[in-house]
Amino acid sequence: MRKAKALLFEMGRSGRQGYSLPSCDVPEKPVDELLPKKMLRTEPLEIPELSEVEVIRHYTELSTRNFGVDTGFYPLGSCTMKYNPKVNEEVAALPGFACMHPCQPEHTVQGALELYYNMEQHLKELTGMERFTMQPSAGAHGELTGLMVIQAYHRNRDDHKRNKVLIPVTAHGTNPATVTMAGYEVVQIPSDDRGNVDLAALKEAVDDTTSALMLTNPSTLGLFEEEITEMARVVHDAGGLLYYDGANLNAIMGYARPGDMGFDVVHLNIHKTLSTPHGGGGPGSGPVGVKERLVPYLPVPLVGKKGDHFYFDYDLPESIGKVHSFYGNFGVVIKAYNYMRMMGAEGLKQASTDAVLNSNYLASLLKKTYYIPYDRIRKHEFVVSAKPEKKKGAGAGDIAKALLDRGFHPPTVYFPLIVDEALMTEPNDTESKETLDAYAQAMEDIAKDIDQDAEKVAAGPYHTVVGRLDEVRAVRNPILRWEKK
Ligand SMILES: Cc1ncc(COP(=O)(O)O)c(C=O)c1O
Repeated sequence: MRKAKALLFEMGRSGRQGYSLPSCDVPEKPVDELLPKKMLRTEPLEIPELSEVEVIRHYTELSTRNFGVDTGFYPLGSCTMKYNPKVNEEVAALPGFACMHPCQPEHTVQGALELYYNMEQHLKELTGMERFTMQPSAGAHGELTGLMVIQAYHRNRDDHKRNKVLIPVTAHGTNPATVTMAGYEVVQIPSDDRGNVDLAALKEAVDDTTSALMLTNPSTLGLFEEEITEMARVVHDAGGLLYYDGANLNAIMGYARPGDMGFDVVHLNIHKTLSTPHGGGGPGSGPVGVKERLVPYLPVPLVGKKGDHFYFDYDLPESIGKVHSFYGNFGVVIKAYNYMRMMGAEGLKQASTDAVLNSNYLASLLKKTYYIPYDRIRKHEFVVSAKPEKKKGAGAGDIAKALLDRGFHPPTVYFPLIVDEALMTEPNDTESKETLDAYAQAMEDIAKDIDQDAEKVAAGPYHTVVGRLDEVRAVRNPILRWEKK
C-alpha cells in the first residue's frame, strides 16, 4: 500500500517560514492602533510553519492522488468521462469571456449573446428541437426544468389529472428523484428480455393520468430502444409527453435525433457529451430543448436576434420563470461550443461512431471471461454481471477495487439495478485500442485471481493510499479536517 504522507500539521516546525514579504514602505504602526482591541487575537493562530518547498511537495503529492481522465482510463458508465481538449479551457479563459460581468448592459456583451444564440442553433440541429434554454446547470437540473415545463403545459390546458411520470427500471437515479421533486408519482415500467422497455407493460400503464414518459435512449444498458417510435405513439395518443434524458447522446450524435424519435423535451449533459470537464461536483450545464408547443413555458430569458443585434428575450408570458441566476454556467457553454465548432458535424458523428465501436470491441473482449446479459449490439456502454464471480467470493465492488490496484478507474458498480453485480462500462470515444486491450487484460487477470483466491481479491485494494474503507461510514461520517489531539 502507498504510505500516506504526514499531514502539514505534523510536518510543521516552529520558526520555519515559507514566504518573505517586501519591506514596508509606509510608516509602521502597532496592530492595536489599527484594529479595535476586541478584534485582536489573544493567542497566536495555530497553523503549521513550513518552508515553501515543503508546501509545494505536499500539494503536488496530493494532486497525484486524484484520478481523472487526464491520468488514466475512466470507464465510468452513464457518465461519459471523455477527454476534454485543453484548448477549450484556453478559449473560455480569454479575457473577453472570463472578465465579463453578468450585470453588464446588453450592448456590451453582444459577443457572448451571439455565442449563446449560435450554440442554441447547433443544439437544435443536433437534437431536432425548436428552442433551448441554457440555464440549467446539470443534467438533474435540466430534468427538473423539463418536467416543470411539461407540468406548465398540461396545467395551461386545464388538464389537471396528469400526476404520473413513467420511467423504465433501467433509469438513472436522478430520474425518479426528479419526478418526485416535481410532485409527480413515479410509475416504473419493466424491461423485456431484450433489454427494451416492455411495450406491453407500457401500454398497460399509460392512461389519462400520464404526464410523461421519461427515457434515456440508448438506455443505461447501452441498448437502443427498438420500439421507440411505437412507444412515442402510445404515450402521445394518451395525451402524455416524452422526456428525453440526453446523458447518453454520445452514442447517437449525427445518427439519430430525439426530436425525430418523438420526444417533446430533452436535456443534454453538455458537460459529458460535449467534452467540458465533468465530475468532482464541478460546474456543469444541462440545456433543455423543447418542441414548438412547449416553447412558451421555457425559462426566461431566451436569447433573440433582430438584424445584427442579440438581446435577452423576456417575452414569454407563460414561462416557468428563471431556474438559475443570470443565464446559466456560461464558461461551460463556451467550452462545449468550442468543442462543437472544432469537431464539426462530421467530427461529432465520428465521436459517436468511435464511442460505439470502442464499447462493442471492449465488450467482445470481456465476453470471453465475464457474463454480459442482453447480449446484442450495444451503443456507447455495456453492463457486465459479476454474479458468477460473486458466487466464488468476490463481486462487482471487489473487482472495482482490484482495478484500482491496476491503475484503472473502475466502471460504475451496482447500477443499473436490474443487473445483479453490475459493472457498467463506458469506454467512450477518446480511448485507443491499446488502452482497451490493457483494461481487458486487467479484467481477465482479476478473474484468474478470483479463481485462485477470491478472499484475497475481496480484501483489496493493496496498492492505493488507503485500503478497504467502511464506505457507509466514509459517506455518513467523513472526517475532513484536522483536529488537534
Ligand atoms: C442517464 C443519466 N441521466 C441523468 C444524469 C444526471 O446528470 P448530472 O450528473 O449532470 O446531474 C446522469 C449522470 O450521470 C446520467 O447518467
